[in-house]
Amino acid sequence: MKKTILVTGGLGYIGSHTVVALQEQNVNVIVVDNLSNSIKEVARRITAITGIPVKLHIVDITDALALDAVFQQETIDGVIHFAAHKAVGESVRQPFKYYRNNIDGMITLQQVMQQNNVKTMVFSSSCTVYGDTRRSPIDETHPVTEAISPYGTTKLVCEQILKDLCKHGGFKGVILRYFNPVGAHSSACIGELPLGVPDNLVPYITQTAAGIREKLTVFGNDYDTPDGTNIRDYIHVVDLAKAHVKALDFAFGMQQNCEVFNLGAGKGYSVLDVIKAFEKVSGKELAYVIGARRAGDVEQIWADASKAEQLLNWTCQHDLDEMMETAWKWQMALTGC
Ligand code: NAD
Ligand code: UFG
Repeated sequence: MKKTILVTGGLGYIGSHTVVALQEQNVNVIVVDNLSNSIKEVARRITAITGIPVKLHIVDITDALALDAVFQQETIDGVIHFAAHKAVGESVRQPFKYYRNNIDGMITLQQVMQQNNVKTMVFSSSCTVYGDTRRSPIDETHPVTEAISPYGTTKLVCEQILKDLCKHGGFKGVILRYFNPVGAHSSACIGELPLGVPDNLVPYITQTAAGIREKLTVFGNDYDTPDGTNIRDYIHVVDLAKAHVKALDFAFGMQQNCEVFNLGAGKGYSVLDVIKAFEKVSGKELAYVIGARRAGDVEQIWADASKAEQLLNWTCQHDLDEMMETAWKWQMALTGC
């Protein structure tokens, strides 16, 4: 039978691509978003891609009454929970903003789910929970005891709450630890909408190439890596979105349980590799300088994603060039769709 899934944060970067992937698989989607880091227009753009209207509730998930009203109005089978603040640097400056939104949001959502007897959740976590790792690839058994920022702490706490509810409250949970999501939908109708100066590498690159920023600063080239710059596992957001559809099926098929999956391409690329790939696909020479290291950066980290391959039957289909190509196309098409 056709399932109805509540997607919190469904107008955001990863949420919007996942709504497209769900609708394309004939899943009925209800979106809850408070527009704190997105715009209503994204709903129209999702429909421009799939031809299916987006049922949107503009609600803050920390508002239990308003959220409960959504559960009363709709028949919901399960939840994919994206809604959270996500900027690592901001979380260091404003930790309570992160504890309140991300942890309160998770608790309120789960309480409302329980009241309404909805007990299946797919949760967005991050490889940041692995902290300052010394070896890669990282699999899901790597310890997660030390977070490197208040943002990371919120992910660890939320993971733990979901695990508790799976153990004692009859919940079924899938925790997805994303590595570095980049790129955009091939239509260029949806993509990442960074507010202000981007913290992340790829939006900074595309904005520099578009003339919005003067030059990119590469944060350090004296790391113990082949070219001296940090290594990350970049994953195309469309591959990531498709993993959520598989994770949801997996969650519905589980007994009361909680499973954790890494979602990455399983390959590490340096900052300079990413710049070279961007220059190749865009045909533009990027203005960049080598600067000091950024505090808190992990030297190198990439995923062992074999558990997702085996249990979810999921692998990445898009390579680094396609990530850069779609990110650039999105940057150039920001105003039209
Ligand atoms: P995003 O900011 O683009 O999307 C989040 C959405 O949630 C936004 O539309 C925002 O308006 C909404 N939202 C935030 N707080 C809310 C609240 N209290 N009530 C209702 N809506 C609320 O972020 P994203 O990049 O799509 O990230 C989605 C999830 O994935 C987050 O949980 C994030 O921590 C996690 N994640 C992201 C990355 C990344 O690099 N983008 C990496 C690892 C994990
Ligand atoms: N970088 C630069 N210059 C920039 C921006 C980034 O050189 O202007 C470098 C960083 O030093 C890092 C790499 O590009 O080596 C990637 O940096 P991002 O900020 O794009 O991504 P991070 O790996 O730091 O962080 C991402 C997500 C976080 C998540 C973290 C988990 O943004 O949400 O992965 O490791 F917590």
